[in-house]
Amino acid sequence: MSSGDFSPKAVLVTGGAGFIGSNFVRFVLSNWDDVRVINLDGLTYAGNLENLADVAGDPRYTLEKLDICETEAVIEICRKHGVDSIIHFAAESHVDRSIVGPREFVRTNVDGTLSLLQAARSCGDLRFLQIGTDEVYGSLGPTGQFTETTPLDPHSPYSASKAAADHLVSAFGTTYGLPVLITRCSNNYGPYQFPEKMIPLMINNARQDKPLPVYGDGANVRDWIYVEDHCRALWTVLINGQPGRVYNIGGNSERANLDVVKTILRHLGKPESLITFVKDRPGHDFRYAIDSSRIHKELGWEPAVDFDTGLKHTIQWYLNHLDWLDHIVTGAYQKYYEEMYAGR
Ligand code: NAD
Ligand code: DAU
Repeated sequence: MSSGDFSPKAVLVTGGAGFIGSNFVRFVLSNWDDVRVINLDGLTYAGNLENLADVAGDPRYTLEKLDICETEAVIEICRKHGVDSIIHFAAESHVDRSIVGPREFVRTNVDGTLSLLQAARSCGDLRFLQIGTDEVYGSLGPTGQFTETTPLDPHSPYSASKAAADHLVSAFGTTYGLPVLITRCSNNYGPYQFPEKMIPLMINNARQDKPLPVYGDGANVRDWIYVEDHCRALWTVLINGQPGRVYNIGGNSERANLDVVKTILRHLGKPESLITFVKDRPGHDFRYAIDSSRIHKELGWEPAVDFDTGLKHTIQWYLNHLDWLDHIVTGAYQKYYEEMYAGR
């Protein structure tokens, strides 16, 4: 990959032990010999060091276990490692959890982002990449796409907290001149995703012949992107993006949930009778679809992995990593699953 206008040498990745963060850490270390990665992660239920077992011994990689709300400690870490940029993934990321308990979402996603912005300023205006979500735009009907100028209209406590964070990030750009960039991506899938999210949850249930809980009638549509395509887009924005700008990132792969679930069952050779329609998610957004033409035209990025190939690869990855899955499923996730789906 070519280098761009900004040439990072020491990146602080927050939330690097989570799903996308761990894929991003691996992506950076395997593509650039001269970049150090400092993974700042509080290791919540979603942070799993097994996700990074293969890079843990790499001299270019360091783990700093810390809550992002600890501003002074973040500043110390940035100074100690000579950090030149912050790529901010750390968040409470699951919509259903935000409906049950919104407070932690505001603490981590809003206060935590503010804390990192303050640290970025204190350390000499570090380049700051905010990993945002298309959910801040709200919900679409059967047609249309979100562009970067679509007004924010978040519907869940999760997306409201992410929208608040995006506003803070752009305010720090406008008010203090911090070199900030915001990306807004659609639904990711791929290796190391926590099995509370739809695709790994359905794979995990199907392999054990458990019911597959489809919310409502399964007609809701998401635009799926393979996680590596997202990671490549983020690096492109970090090095070539224009500070102050927002970049949408989408997978060009809109699918209704029920179609995704049926495809998973087909790949696993399991019967559709496992599908169980359950009570809908409150405030369930009907459809997301992303117009990624800005990042394509300005920075030359486009997704490379089509959904069918990516999904097959993902299913195979989970089947090859049953220890990883079992470890989660018999730990924090099992308790969570029982709480969330009790009575359905
Ligand atoms: P995840 O839940 O898998 O991982 C979150 C990580 O953040 C974990 O490692 C966790 O330990 C860490 N973390 C949480 N609270 C923290 C705190 N207070 N201090 C330090 N670390 C903390 O999340 P993900 O699915 O990988 O999402 C990563 C980011 O990408 C999030 O900001 C999310 O909003 C955004 N995003 C996700 C998707 C998606 O489809 N998963 C799509 C678009 C954007
Ligand atoms: O769009 C980007 C967002 O995608 C990210 O910002 C979030 O962090 C990420 O969690 C994801 O949010 P969703 O709510 O879209 O993802 P989830 O996997 O929870 O659900 C995908 C769809 O599947 C959604 O329409 C709800 C439905 N669903 C989900 C679960 C967990 C089910 O039908 N059954 C389920 O058990």
